[in-house]
Amino acid sequence: MVEFTLPRNSKVGKGKTYPAPAGATNVKAFGIYRWSPDDDSNPVVDTYELDLDKMGPMVLDALIHIKNEVDPTLTFRRSCREGICGSCAMNIDGENTLACLKPIRDVKKAVAISPLPHMPVVKDLVPDLNGAYAQLASIEPWMKSDTAPPPDAERRQSEEERAKLDGMWECILCFCCTTSCPSYWWNGDRYLGPATLLAAYRWIADSRDEAKGARLDALEDPLKLYACRTIMNCTQTCPKGLNPAKAIAEIKKLQLERKV
Ligand code: SF4
Ligand code: SF4
Ligand code: FES
Repeated sequence: MVEFTLPRNSKVGKGKTYPAPAGATNVKAFGIYRWSPDDDSNPVVDTYELDLDKMGPMVLDALIHIKNEVDPTLTFRRSCREGICGSCAMNIDGENTLACLKPIRDVKKAVAISPLPHMPVVKDLVPDLNGAYAQLASIEPWMKSDTAPPPDAERRQSEEERAKLDGMWECILCFCCTTSCPSYWWNGDRYLGPATLLAAYRWIADSRDEAKGARLDALEDPLKLYACRTIMNCTQTCPKGLNPAKAIAEIKKLQLERKV
């Protein structure tokens, strides 16, 4: 039997416990992954016992409360607090989601929070998404047209053409889907992952875009596209209710149609 040893820094230890304030009657524990590049320690899970009567209802409210009132060193991303910017994506209670849209009451026991899985960690709950953004840039997510001269007014679409983009334009690039995908975990250096492939199909399906053939050519690769095994984790986890697996299937269908 093959034996292997986990790298020393892959082990997550037990960290500090911050007890609930005296007199609190509505207490819930939050176990939060902590790791800093500034010291040489393994990651730990710190436990924060919070008085839920002192904060708003969402997991992001609890994180902001910790940052402001308990432990200012806790590091996480957030901006809009409305499920629009995608920056508060993290793993909560075993599921990739947005902290600002996740009600605390939906987690029955202690709330376990860690960064999006299988990405390098910058610090605490902040994943390094540079690789994912570079993959997104590689599909050139903007409208392309060789029509010259460009029109003076907007490029028009029929209602039916516009409707084909529904379910794609709503993507907020949180990468909850990509980081839930086993194919991406194992082949993330070559497989583009569901968020980027959804963005690719958004432009392939756009009636105004004139680079459909070139876009499909660029995706005709055993790993960039075909590493998707239709496991559907991506669609299951998307906090915006989108279906990246369907978009990937549509790209594969178009690739097949070009060949017959
Ligand atoms: S498809 Fe959903 S999970 Fe994936 S990046 Fe877009 S909004 Fe996030
Ligand atoms: S359907 Fe494809 S992209 Fe979605 S989780 Fe499965 S393998 Fe990944
Ligand atoms: S803070 Fe913007 S999506 Fe959560």
